[in-house]
Amino acid sequence: MKEQLEKLREATIELISGLSDEKALNDARTRILGRKGQLTGFLRGLKDLDPEERARMGQLANQIKIDLEQSFDRMETAIRERMEEQRLAAEFVDVTLPGRRSPIGRSHILHRVTDELIDVFAGLGFQLAEGPEVELDYYNFEALNIPRDHPARDMQDTFYFSDNVVLRTHTSPVQIRTMEKQQPPVRVICPGKVYRRDADITHSPMFMQIEGLWVDRGISFADLKGVLTAFVQEYFGKDVGLRFRPSFFPFTEPSAEVDIRCVICGGEGCRTCSQTGWLEILGSGMVDPVLYGFVNYDPSVYTGFAFGMGIERVAMLKYRIPDIRAFYENDVRFLNQF
Ligand code: FA5
Ligand code: MG
Repeated sequence: MKEQLEKLREATIELISGLSDEKALNDARTRILGRKGQLTGFLRGLKDLDPEERARMGQLANQIKIDLEQSFDRMETAIRERMEEQRLAAEFVDVTLPGRRSPIGRSHILHRVTDELIDVFAGLGFQLAEGPEVELDYYNFEALNIPRDHPARDMQDTFYFSDNVVLRTHTSPVQIRTMEKQQPPVRVICPGKVYRRDADITHSPMFMQIEGLWVDRGISFADLKGVLTAFVQEYFGKDVGLRFRPSFFPFTEPSAEVDIRCVICGGEGCRTCSQTGWLEILGSGMVDPVLYGFVNYDPSVYTGFAFGMGIERVAMLKYRIPDIRAFYENDVRFLNQF
């Protein structure tokens, strides 16, 4: 029996030294020291021995049990320490490495140009006003002296949500909304998106305008020319080619459009300016007194002028962009240039 016990001790110690994971170690511990384990079996068998032998063997078996328990405990600690080391090694972070930068975005070129335009007009005393993109037919057309079924509607075809609700075709409805709310003096600019059935290298179905309106006592066509010329020279420089061309709008009288000398060809004629040497940036005119009837202004006291400028056109001329579609293709190689 003594031999068997010694053998068990040796075999177990050898077994323990070869184990490397906690589960296998626990299984071995149960197999040998557990309630139905091998050593426990020996201890149970002691009762069959004679008393003297029982005492000696009992002592030996208990000593072996203590030894083996210590061996198991030591191994368990060693295994846990090794696992902890491995975990820490796997989680190692080099805090001295430089960080990864996420790319920084920027505002779209059209928004930058819009902000620049707002700055110039703010310098001329204009305040900001806004209106909705989904607009009532009344503000987009009727109160601007464009009745239903009038041929002037053909130039600005758009999306109709219903007979009375449209995607606005210009920022001019904000003129009416502003005048409805306040009596003169009124001096506002109204930037925003507008929509038309229109598409080629200088026309986009969605584009941006900035509306201007100045109504007060004694405002004349000279003020219109003065403000628009001051704007063009401030934004494009003193040398830029500029012309006022007679035109027609149902809501202004007289009316003029402003063209800028084409920067793509220098005025020689190209695709961008349709071989004319000029690119139209805005429509304008003296507010037609008919409109004052819609907003309760006294036409014998007040006069005013208004204009509506295409922001893409201004950006094309400022940054020499030959095709309007570049603004809306979202090619970051294009957008990153600005
Ligand atoms: C108007 O929209 C008038 N509401 C302007 C106005 C306001 C006149 C106040 C008088 C008083 P027009 O359709 O010409 O006018 O457009 C004005 C400008 O918007 C044009 O000169 C052009 O620069 C720009 N524009 C017009 N259509 C497009 C389009 N499809 N894509 C890009 N820009 C456009
Ligand atoms: Mg026009």
